[in-house]
Amino acid sequence: PAIPAPTRTIALVGLMGVGKSTVGRRLAARLGLPFVDGDEAIESAARMTVSDIFAQLGEAEFRAGEARVMRRLLEGPPIVLATGGGAVLNPETRELMKEHATSVWLRADLKVVAQRVQRRDTRPLLRGKDPLVALTAMAEVRYPVYAETADVTVDVGAGAHGQAVDAIVAAL
Ligand code: S3P
Repeated sequence: PAIPAPTRTIALVGLMGVGKSTVGRRLAARLGLPFVDGDEAIESAARMTVSDIFAQLGEAEFRAGEARVMRRLLEGPPIVLATGGGAVLNPETRELMKEHATSVWLRADLKVVAQRVQRRDTRPLLRGKDPLVALTAMAEVRYPVYAETADVTVDVGAGAHGQAVDAIVAAL
């Protein structure tokens, strides 16, 4: 049955590699909302890749640009938004999410996430590190923030993105 399109943005939060973009794209199609990938929006605004921004301008500049892009997207019309894993570390971005979006924390087993991120080399924060060790350290800092920000938490299985979409739709 057709689902009425939500009137608020749905923001997906969670660690890199949990499937925010894949789940977000499918969720958007299901709900009839546009899908926006936060990292891609930053890349188009900066006309540089995320890796190049980190390498040439540094993380602080990336975070400042990320916060500007998040504000523009969150203050705009409803979308499904896949946020970068670190976007919610910014308190202003968190406030904007609480004001304008329903936030969904996608959570997966860290071993599964580590395997996924190993297949691509687009994450500057993992470069040259053991992904499981790095992700575990990130989880320690970020899980409390994700938990505090999210209205809904959905556990994603090993490859079951369709189930995650169903779980989000059911929880909205
Ligand atoms: C980051 C996650 C990345 C990207 C950047 C930093 C993070 O986004 O924004 O590499 O701090 O977790 P994804 O979560 O989409 O990989």
